[in-house]
Amino acid sequence: MHQNDTPAAPDLFTWEFAADPYPAYAWLREHSPVHRTTLPSGVEAWLVTRYADARQALADQRLSKNPVHHSERSAHGKGKTGIPGERSANLMTHLLNIDPPDHTRLRRLVSKAFTPRRVAEFAPRVQELTDRLIDGFAGQGEADLIHEFAFPLPIYAICDMLGVPPEDQDDFRDWAGMMIRHGGGPRGGVARSVKKMRGYLAELIHRKRNDPGEDLISGLIRASDHGEHLTENEAAAMAFILLFAGFETTVNLIGNGTYALLRNPDQRERLQNALAEGDGSLLATGVEELLRYDGPVELATWRFATESLTLGGQRIAEGDPVLVVLAAADRDPARFADPDTLDLARRDNQHLGYGHGIHYCLGAPLARLEGQTALATLLRRLPDLRLAADPDDLRWRGGLIMRGLRTLPVEFTPEA
Ligand code: HEM
Repeated sequence: MHQNDTPAAPDLFTWEFAADPYPAYAWLREHSPVHRTTLPSGVEAWLVTRYADARQALADQRLSKNPVHHSERSAHGKGKTGIPGERSANLMTHLLNIDPPDHTRLRRLVSKAFTPRRVAEFAPRVQELTDRLIDGFAGQGEADLIHEFAFPLPIYAICDMLGVPPEDQDDFRDWAGMMIRHGGGPRGGVARSVKKMRGYLAELIHRKRNDPGEDLISGLIRASDHGEHLTENEAAAMAFILLFAGFETTVNLIGNGTYALLRNPDQRERLQNALAEGDGSLLATGVEELLRYDGPVELATWRFATESLTLGGQRIAEGDPVLVVLAAADRDPARFADPDTLDLARRDNQHLGYGHGIHYCLGAPLARLEGQTALATLLRRLPDLRLAADPDDLRWRGGLIMRGLRTLPVEFTPEA
């Protein structure tokens, strides 16, 4: 193609891009589907944006999750690239940073404790937490749904499930707040929060070993597979990843999801009508569609080529980092009809919002439960909920992996 026929590659990782990355992703899918770029941290990586390539990359065992395979690691020296896992080795030896056979063993053990059935049993508690949080602002007529609702709900839910006593859960809320606010920014406060969380979890695990209960941490300690158990350190890393992987993601599902509904009044009305008639099926397909349309995880977590390989016709060298852009793949017109349209009843919706392959989201059942409960309860209790800000004034958090709003101001008729 003549050079002038192709517009210049869009700027990535700017504020405008953070507000609406989808036009840039459409350009990449079309013109440079496996695209070499320099990330804000200075690390060079490949961005994979087409659905078929993304799905293939997520399941390709030659793409390792272990940062030891990163070629720049030796060039920059340990810990200089900003890639997670190069610091705090202990807590970072978790599912998202390891490959088989270690991954297989740990995932099997945690799956014994964190089962879909256990999650289903937790449904009434999630409903209770949701109502309690809405009680906090329903009489006011206005709220910031991120701070007052989307942010606290997942942290209290997972703390409850893990067995963190209620009186300690606000500490987690503070630590998590620090992590979410500074996720892509200054490291000092985040490092301190991670350290406090680690200390707390280590102590809690120790306590539960002597005095087990029905909670998830006790389940993790008890879980055994062919006589194998998690060590205390592995259990701490596992509890940490459950908190960490399940927290900001769910905040963004509730935040992005509510925002998308408010921006698409016909879809929101359709959902409200279905819920009023007691029909939950649109809620189930709708939450999946919200994950596809504007999902919480913009880019899947790091992968590194353990050998040179070809992906989407592009040669990738051994040691190169590969980032699969889930948000781009899930808007690929080659896979989804009218990909930029929100259709809560969409069928054939095999989106990649929860990933794919052996690292497929372990917490998907809990995320679905929280997302469905949060959205249905909000719409039921505050039926005339509306946006109280100009969409152009809303700020998106500029982290690399996640996509989510900093604030979501809303107004509504106060509950009597
Ligand atoms: C993995 C998305 C909620 C726990 C993943 C991955 C994605 C994802 C895309 C794969 C990452 C990769 O392959 O690089 C989401 C979304 C959520 C959500 C969109 C909310 C809407 C949760 C929750 C938990 C959780 C609530 C647990 C409480 C995990 C864990 C992994 C994971 C442990 C690692 C699995 C492995 O490596 O084997 N998630 N997640 N997630 N997620 Fe989630």
